[in-house]
Amino acid sequence: MLTPLLLSLILSAEPAKTPNAVQAEMVLLHEAILVTLVGIETGNVEAVPAAFHKVHAAKAVTEQALDSGAWKPKAGTTVAAFKKQDQTFHQELEKLVKAAAKKDVPATAKQLGAVINGCPACHTKFKPDPPAP
Ligand code: HEC
Repeated sequence: MLTPLLLSLILSAEPAKTPNAVQAEMVLLHEAILVTLVGIETGNVEAVPAAFHKVHAAKAVTEQALDSGAWKPKAGTTVAAFKKQDQTFHQELEKLVKAAAKKDVPATAKQLGAVINGCPACHTKFKPDPPAP
């Protein structure tokens, strides 16, 4: 039987928001970055390529959302400019995966730096502004 407290928690809970295509890709990207960091820490980067393959698969869904107009970058920017930046970023991810596939931990660490620089570079330009409160 539900206690009144549990019932009130259920009733007051915000409806779960489904992440959009970009957000879903970003969650996987975040996870892949963590996998890379842990790999660098432990000296074993073997799990890195598989983590980024998931990001790559999600990118296809993002492309569809961009082409259908289901997702749009920040007002005042264009889908074409976003795609270009995303393409450049994914090239940096490929270099990271190659370094990890070679089990080259120092090269993976160096390339992780380049990849991390790409996060704010894109967010400041293209992340849509949050809706006004
Ligand atoms: C090519 C552009 C681009 C790059 C590069 C990029 N992001 Fe994002 N990221 C976005 C956009 C756009 C959003 C906002 C999506 C939205 O809210 O609709 C976002 C949002 C996020 C979010 C929030 C997701 C959510 O659930 O609201 C996280 C976490 C994130 N990015 C992590 C990262 C990390 C980590 C990196 C770098 C390793 C990175 N991003 C690189 C474009 C990018």
